[in-house]
Amino acid sequence: MAEAAVADRPAVTLPDAQTVTEVRHWTDRLFSFRCTRPKSLRFRSGEFVMIGLPGENGKPLLRAYSIASPNWDDELEFYSIKVPDGPLTSRLQHIREGDEIILRPKPVGTLVHDALLPGERLWLLATGTGVAPFASLMRDPETYERFGTVVMMHTCREAAELEYGRELVESLADDPLIGEVVRGRLLYYPTTTREVSARMGRITDNLTSGKVFEDLGLPKMDPATDRAMICGSLAFNIDVKTVLEGFGLNEGANSDPKEFVVEKAFVGEGI
Ligand code: FAD
Ligand code: A2P
Repeated sequence: MAEAAVADRPAVTLPDAQTVTEVRHWTDRLFSFRCTRPKSLRFRSGEFVMIGLPGENGKPLLRAYSIASPNWDDELEFYSIKVPDGPLTSRLQHIREGDEIILRPKPVGTLVHDALLPGERLWLLATGTGVAPFASLMRDPETYERFGTVVMMHTCREAAELEYGRELVESLADDPLIGEVVRGRLLYYPTTTREVSARMGRITDNLTSGKVFEDLGLPKMDPATDRAMICGSLAFNIDVKTVLEGFGLNEGANSDPKEFVVEKAFVGEGI
């Protein structure tokens, strides 16, 4: 009896609804969008929230998404993959300005300043949509209060997949709010691995060969001065972690800050 009563309950309006204010498609596999920000939402740059759309039977279909906008922004920005058969993104990729999405205002995550010890340089290491939390951190003045230099290494198979990050980084120097803070302190190192481009190679290879240090005129990573945040596939995260440990850096957490932190950009098949 009780079960039948629940099933018969009429659908309610979207809980935690936010309105989409802008959508940009970068490739046939990538898009970004902005939406209204709940008044109650406070977050630390680098954290993620659950967002989604109403699913079957009105039950919300939610996925983890890094907030790509900085914590001072009035709106929220997200950068998303389009998985052709993905339960959420096969539909989310069709959102337009004025549509509603669901957003649970409970931010969490490890890619936050509190999980790192103070240092001179911050390395942001990402593949694919793993650049999203760093899009937030690169725009946060606190990042530049804590570190003298920030290095953004972003790697994708093809150049078009780097465009969201490239446009963001290139716009920062002229940004009226944080341009002055960022200018000359944010070093950008984008690479492709499949399409031939000006800079190529996996992040792991460019670190172990020393090429990135040589190209940017920086000393090799050192636990006394360097801090890092990693965000990519599980395989990428594991391999970068091994490289950083080889430089003598140790993994930290919110409750135990150390020299680097890791977060998955997505959960792969069967993991
Ligand atoms: P799912 O059933 O969730 O995924 C289907 C398959 O698609 C996965 O098994 C995987 O192989 C692949 N896949 C999923 N997401 C990605 C991706 N981002 N890049 C490459 N392949 C992928 N996704 C984003 O696009 N932007 C984000 O900022 C983001 N932040 C995340 C933060 C965390 C902590 C975690 C755990 C995941 C995050 N994701 C992000 C992934 C996201 O939660 C969903 O998996 C994604 O939106 C696809 O949802 P789906 O329902 O369409 O397909
Ligand atoms: P590669 O083209 O050499 O595989 P994907 O699209 O498979 O998620 O990969 C995104 C980017 O991350 C690609 O440039 C890919 O390089 C790189 N990549 C994938 N796995 C690793 C890894 N284990 N270590 C370093 N880079 C990786």
